Amino acid sequence: MKKDLLGIGDLSAEEIHLILDTAEAMREIGQRPIKKVPTLRGKTVVNLFYEPSTRTRTSFEIAEKRLSADTLNIAVATSSVMKGETLVDTAMNIDAMAPDMIVLRHPSSGACHLLSRICQSPIINAGDGLHEHPTQALLDAFTIREHKQRIEGLKVVIVGDLMHSRVLRSNMLLLTKLGAELWVSGPPTLVPVGIERLGVRVSTSVDAAVEGADVIMMLRIQHERMQTAFVPSLREYYNLFGMTAARVAHAKPDVIIMHPGPMNRGVEIASDVADGPYSVILEQVANGVAVRMAVLYLLAGGAEEAD
Ligand code: CP
Repeated sequence: MKKDLLGIGDLSAEEIHLILDTAEAMREIGQRPIKKVPTLRGKTVVNLFYEPSTRTRTSFEIAEKRLSADTLNIAVATSSVMKGETLVDTAMNIDAMAPDMIVLRHPSSGACHLLSRICQSPIINAGDGLHEHPTQALLDAFTIREHKQRIEGLKVVIVGDLMHSRVLRSNMLLLTKLGAELWVSGPPTLVPVGIERLGVRVSTSVDAAVEGADVIMMLRIQHERMQTAFVPSLREYYNLFGMTAARVAHAKPDVIIMHPGPMNRGVEIASDVADGPYSVILEQVANGVAVRMAVLYLLAGGAEEAD
């Protein structure tokens, strides 16, 4: 593994498989009565989140605690960021205290790359702007592999706000690298120009896209990243692109339904699908802890450092 985890684009297929295999071992720790091992004892991990998060921040902290790292959550709202301190100055000051890793979420694409150049500490990307969310794609791949025993050759359909999704970008890089047949579907106003050059099939008909799908992954409509109205109304969006039981019926009988969260119920997904028998959405959340434990362990040096 390299010094940082900045994006799936930097990982080889072998490195992705190593992370997923390591996560299998890490998951077992979470099933023990005492869910803690001394692997990262004496290491300090700083979680620096400039955007709201429920799943990613919580699961990184649980992962760090399960590995016995000392964890520190910087609350940006009560930090000197509120006095105008820049990201670079904030990061250099945190880095001066010699943490062993910094987990960063930031609204600007490329923020993690910037910090990786100026910080001694390894940087883990917990979502940067519209760029990447690599640990989300890794936990998604882990969940797919758990259910289907493979990724190669599966028909995976990703539906929703393709324009503003870092989850889509990381998943496109990962799933095409591992040989999935990837389809994307969304309103024409939310389909990035030239996306098919990244090796995906594009359909503005969700019904056509989900035909025979092994995996359906829904993406959230990201109101906070939209400057203008990309869809006429949420009701129309739901009618044309919302994942309903009727649409799921066109997929394979053993299809799994995924969503990175947070969900807009009744907008991109119907509640009976989100909570229904094909949904693995809460499994994704649970697997996030094991995958983040694997990333922390491998970036800390893996077996060499753990002894
Ligand atoms: N999937 C995801 O990144 O969720 P949070 O924003 O709650 O971390």
